Amino acid sequence: MRQESGEKDFRRCGEKLIQRQHLNREEWRVLLQGQTQERQEWLAAQASKLRDQIYGKRIFIRGLIEFTNYCKNDCFYCGIRRSNSRARRYRLSQEEILSCCRTGYGLGFRTFVLQGGEDSYYTDERLTEMIRKIRQEFQDCAITLSVGEKSRESYEAYRKAGADRYLLRHETANEEHYRLLHPENQRLGDRIQCLKTLKSLGYQTGAGFMTGSPGQTIEAIIDDMMFLEELQPEMVGIGPFIPHHQTPFRGEKQGSLELTLYLLSLVRLLLPRVLLPATTALGTIDEKGREKGILAGANVVMPNLSPADVRGKYLLYDNKICTGKEAAEGLEALRASVNALGYELAVDRGDIAPETVLA
Ligand code: 5AD
Repeated sequence: MRQESGEKDFRRCGEKLIQRQHLNREEWRVLLQGQTQERQEWLAAQASKLRDQIYGKRIFIRGLIEFTNYCKNDCFYCGIRRSNSRARRYRLSQEEILSCCRTGYGLGFRTFVLQGGEDSYYTDERLTEMIRKIRQEFQDCAITLSVGEKSRESYEAYRKAGADRYLLRHETANEEHYRLLHPENQRLGDRIQCLKTLKSLGYQTGAGFMTGSPGQTIEAIIDDMMFLEELQPEMVGIGPFIPHHQTPFRGEKQGSLELTLYLLSLVRLLLPRVLLPATTALGTIDEKGREKGILAGANVVMPNLSPADVRGKYLLYDNKICTGKEAAEGLEALRASVNALGYELAVDRGDIAPETVLA
């Protein structure tokens, strides 16, 4: 009897999310507590249907260029944190980055994601020059940056140089949880301010967080969902936390496949047009992780375009995959597995769908 009314409640909240793209705290709690396989399947079916209505049977690809693993921050979860003296550090030169873009362009990529640690070698001057060069050579491509927290002036300069999009996961919208994951000098408020600045400068902006990171509670996830509703980001990156053996979180539990899929579906229902990657971390914890992510509502994959010899050094977590379908050379294999699900890899920039599509 109790179970039955639980199911009724669950459906009521699920339907409301689909109709209104808004829930209060208590309703989020209903959806997030007592996750079952059956509920996950229902959410995934709803999320997939909605994604297909907006984007059709198209999955977007982004070429990821991990151009530096130097980082001045010391996030407790991250393998390239400053204190990890055993990380083998590298940075790509401008010419190497351009060469990655050329390879990627030839393979069909029309979005390049330049991701790196917060590396002071890459000053605004060096970064803007880099962006200008890419913009000049690849006019039909989107340039996405993911280089952390910067001043408004810096973000503005990158935008003027030709950057279109920016990824900056908020990591958690819960103050207490943020403190468990980061040293004192890093502030949730700063990160949120950066995201707002990015939006106001006209970047298509990506937020996001890890699932199952140490100390993450249902209440913290509710904060994440409510924060995403308020921010209305164009992109949301969600992947499982995976411990790295040279970090303080080496002994912590890895985030689960089930929770990640569940949250991907919920984010799709909350933000119907969102660009939602099936992340490398998801592909790392499960052989079919990315495919399962797509079936849960994701519509982006980000194969690695970094030169093969540095891929093994951009290790945010243990066992990160980097040579199979997640590598740019594995594109045909990726295409085959996406096709097997009934989807196609899109060859355009894959901008966020305009508001009118659902009307
Ligand atoms: N496990 C999973 N994801 C991680 N990230 C950093 N460290 C880990 C880890 N140990 C994620 C963070 C960051 C993104 C680039 O990678 O969310 O924003």
